[in-house]
Amino acid sequence: MALLEILTVADHTATLKTVSAPVDAVDDGLRRLMDDMLETMYAAPGIGLAAIQVGVAKRVIVMDLAREGEDKAPRYFVNPEILESSEELYEYEEGCLSVPEIYDAVARPARVRLRYLGYDGEQVEEWAEGLYAVCIQHEMDHLEGILFIDHLSRLKRDRAIAKVKKAKRTG
Ligand code: NI
Repeated sequence: MALLEILTVADHTATLKTVSAPVDAVDDGLRRLMDDMLETMYAAPGIGLAAIQVGVAKRVIVMDLAREGEDKAPRYFVNPEILESSEELYEYEEGCLSVPEIYDAVARPARVRLRYLGYDGEQVEEWAEGLYAVCIQHEMDHLEGILFIDHLSRLKRDRAIAKVKKAKRTG
């Protein structure tokens, strides 16, 4: 496995705005990408990562919502779709490895019904709620080129990007 570079809004905004393309087949090459993404996410550390965040414009996401001290529980999503969303919203203080050190509240549907392909290409349909619902919607936004700061006011978004750029300049 290999650690990949995580692209941030400091200098990769154009790539992060790319709309990712569907995956044709879940094969060994794709599994290697997912393995590398997972290792990269754990090292960061983070709880979710979309392929575009490592510069690959494919509809692929990895996630692990296990708490510290719990066994690892990696999840893999290929070509995920949201089939249904609750009207009820849930607000959560989000962060993103591509917008490091910035956190802000985003309201999203509290529950979503998902369909996706798993690590071995198996099709899964299930409801997500709580942190799982927050995280999958955040990551699926990445597949459309949308960052969580795009859900904030323009002022907050501009300020967040300026902060990340400054942090990168000053190391
Ligand atoms: Ni993110």
